[in-house]
Amino acid sequence: METLQLGVLGSGNGSNLQAILDVIAACKLEAKVACVISDVADAFILERAREAGVPAFHVDCGPSKSKLEKDAEQRAISILQEHGADTVALAGFMRIIKPDLLRAFPQRVLNIHPSLLPSFPGLRAWEQALNYGVRHSGCTVHFVDEGMDTGPIILQRTVLVHDRDTPDTLHKRIQSQEHIAYIEALRLLARGRIKIEGRRVLRTND
Ligand code: GRF
Repeated sequence: METLQLGVLGSGNGSNLQAILDVIAACKLEAKVACVISDVADAFILERAREAGVPAFHVDCGPSKSKLEKDAEQRAISILQEHGADTVALAGFMRIIKPDLLRAFPQRVLNIHPSLLPSFPGLRAWEQALNYGVRHSGCTVHFVDEGMDTGPIILQRTVLVHDRDTPDTLHKRIQSQEHIAYIEALRLLARGRIKIEGRRVLRTND
C-alpha cells in the first residue's frame, strides 16, 4: 500500500478534484493532493484547491486552446516535481499531454473521459454519444499515452441513456459515475492492484 502523491491538472469546474479531496478527507483513499495546476487563471478547480489548503498554480499556456507548449509543459513538470507528486491525475484538463510529461511520470498519468472509450474520444463526448443514438454510455479512467484518449483502460462505469435526455442531463449522470470511477481507479493504483500488460490493465490480488 502506498500513499499516492497526486498532482491534479484541470481546466474547469473541478468536480472530480472535489470528489478526490472529499474521499481523502474521509480517510477512504490512500492519497494526498500535492498540488493542482490549471491552464485557466480563473478556473474553479483552483479555488477548490485553495479552499482545501492545496497549493494551486496557474500555468500560462499561451494563445492556443489545445496545445501544451514546451515552456508551459516544463513549468508544469517542475511544479509537480517540486511538490513531490508521483502520480498525475488529469481532471478536465483540456490540452493534449506531451511526451516529456509522460516520461517524467511513466505509467503514472491518468485521465477520466466522459464516454465508454474507444467510442467518442475528444470533446463533448456525452453529446457525441447522444447524437449517435447509443443506449448506454458512461465514463472511462485510463492511463494516458501520446494519443488522444487512447491509453490503456483501467476501468469503466456505464449509465443508461434515456429517451428524454438532453446533453446536460446525460452529462450529469455520467459525471456522478466519474466521481466513483476515478476514486476506484486511484485506490487500485495505491494498493498496487493493477499491472499493465500491453493494452490491458489487469487486476492483481494484492
Ligand atoms: C469531466 O466530464 C471529465 O470526464 C472530462 O472533463 C470533465 C471535467 O469535469 N475529462 P470536472 O472539472 O472534474 O468537474
